[in-house]
Amino acid sequence: MSGRSFGLADAEAFRSTARVFVDQAGRMEPGIAGGPSFGLMKEAAAGRAFADARGQHEAVCAFLDCLKRAAGQGATPETFTFVAKCAEYDRYLDEKVVEFRANPRGDWSAAAVKSEDNAVIAKVVDEIAAHLRSFSEPAQAYQSLVDYTQARIKALMPPEIAGMRQEANISLIFPFLEKALPVAGDVAEFGCFRGILSVKLAWMLKALGANKHYYTFDTFHGFEIDDPAGGALGIGAFRDDAFDAFGFLTKWSRILPLTPVKGDATKTCAQLQGPLSFVWLDLDMGVLMDPVLRTIWSKCGPDTIIGIDDVGRPETPTVAPWLDGLIASGAVELVFDSDRIAPNTFIRFVKKKGDLLPV
Ligand SMILES: C[S@@+](CC[C@H](N)C(=O)[O-])C[C@H]1O[C@@H](n2cnc3c(N)ncnc32)[C@H](O)[C@@H]1O
Repeated sequence: MSGRSFGLADAEAFRSTARVFVDQAGRMEPGIAGGPSFGLMKEAAAGRAFADARGQHEAVCAFLDCLKRAAGQGATPETFTFVAKCAEYDRYLDEKVVEFRANPRGDWSAAAVKSEDNAVIAKVVDEIAAHLRSFSEPAQAYQSLVDYTQARIKALMPPEIAGMRQEANISLIFPFLEKALPVAGDVAEFGCFRGILSVKLAWMLKALGANKHYYTFDTFHGFEIDDPAGGALGIGAFRDDAFDAFGFLTKWSRILPLTPVKGDATKTCAQLQGPLSFVWLDLDMGVLMDPVLRTIWSKCGPDTIIGIDDVGRPETPTVAPWLDGLIASGAVELVFDSDRIAPNTFIRFVKKKGDLLPV
């Protein structure tokens, strides 16, 4: 076994990697921005030269330490791609460590790298650094979510299912469903239309090994009322008898943890028994969302993620005022506003903060 240092000999390349890392990590919460490794990365990003071999070795170890810590972090919408990449690179390096019988990574900074082929390990570190430099573009939060969701779908879903078209923007919904996986409780979608989103998300739950059931509600014959504020939707809108969404979902329920519930959701939602970890409200009218949320309120905890579609969309004029009222009353707090990263996407995620005001 040899015991030499490794990788990132080009000081300027290392400094630019450090800048990317510090810049990306600064957007993470609670962040990796503490500790000696990150401090060293910040110094490198600010231009400090690591002249001798020992200094360079320490800097590279700090980079690898930050990589490992970033890989274990929770991501914000702006950093999904970055965190996912860090995890990928981290695994890749671990594989090489096993393959070339290196000493444990935790010992590298103190005792240098000892492996059967340090040149290979050095090459891997350089490769990782070069890939991270490709993140030097300004963060595109929306594109990051789209890329992340597409990558997860590609990895976990057959193309026949992935290719089906749903109305809702799955790239903005799936990452938040995934964030709700550690929260105890099932998933409920209100207003599923043809049920394509339901099948895709229930598929993902199963593929990810989540111990959750997906309940999906609809009249399955479109709206039963007109929009009270004169919005675009009225009786019969979103009716598609030819498709038979209830039959379609019933078939899928044989292999997926999925149950379609037919009828007026303001009443059928009372059938939900257990706690909920994730709720998706896509009923297009405040008068429909409000009674549903009131009925399921006791099933939601402070960590339940509640998504609302069509907030501020001109065709659905009652949704935004309803949600604004909930936020102003202190019942819920806003955790994500999709329009801030992609205008006219109209999605909000909220969490329970206080109690609902009486009707
Ligand atoms: C905007 S669509 C949902 C689109 C769907 N999430 C998707 O991605 O394809 C609204 C749905 O709400 C349903 N809906 C309207 N009033 C309802 C009610 N009282 N109870 C249950 N569903 C209702 C309609 O039938 C329609 O399918």
